Amino acid sequence: MSLSLSLTINGAARDIPLDDPRVTLLDLLRERLALPGTKKGCDRGQCGACTVLIDGHRVNACLTLAATLDGAKITTIEGLADGESLHPVQSAFIEHDGFQCGYCTPGQIMSAVGLIAEGQAGDDPERIREGMSGNICRCSAYHGITLAVQDATR
Ligand code: FES
Repeated sequence: MSLSLSLTINGAARDIPLDDPRVTLLDLLRERLALPGTKKGCDRGQCGACTVLIDGHRVNACLTLAATLDGAKITTIEGLADGESLHPVQSAFIEHDGFQCGYCTPGQIMSAVGLIAEGQAGDDPERIREGMSGNICRCSAYHGITLAVQDATR
């Protein structure tokens, strides 16, 4: 079965032939569209490394079949900065050392952007940690991540 998807990815309209309906959004981005910023950690919805925005909402790309997304607007970490200007959440992660090895960072940042857009971040560290609980950092940089989200929310 062959499908054709019309997607808007990081602001650009794309028509994408899809020969396998089982392909996840994560594999589509990384392996077919040369957008490797979205990371593959667990590949089963447990770590959040693959977080992207679909129509402004946070999702795990590893759990999302590409074939279900015709017409969707997808934002990945590659689409956040405006030219040379980082997105405020990216700047806040740098300012507050919200990372160590960096592998989970694209997912953390996309999740933070979604959380803030949902109005669910607030200024309370506990609330931020709860809102970001789907994103695991194996280096345990949670203090800096929370400070970064708190700062970017203001
Ligand atoms: Fe998708 Fe871990 S790779 S949640």
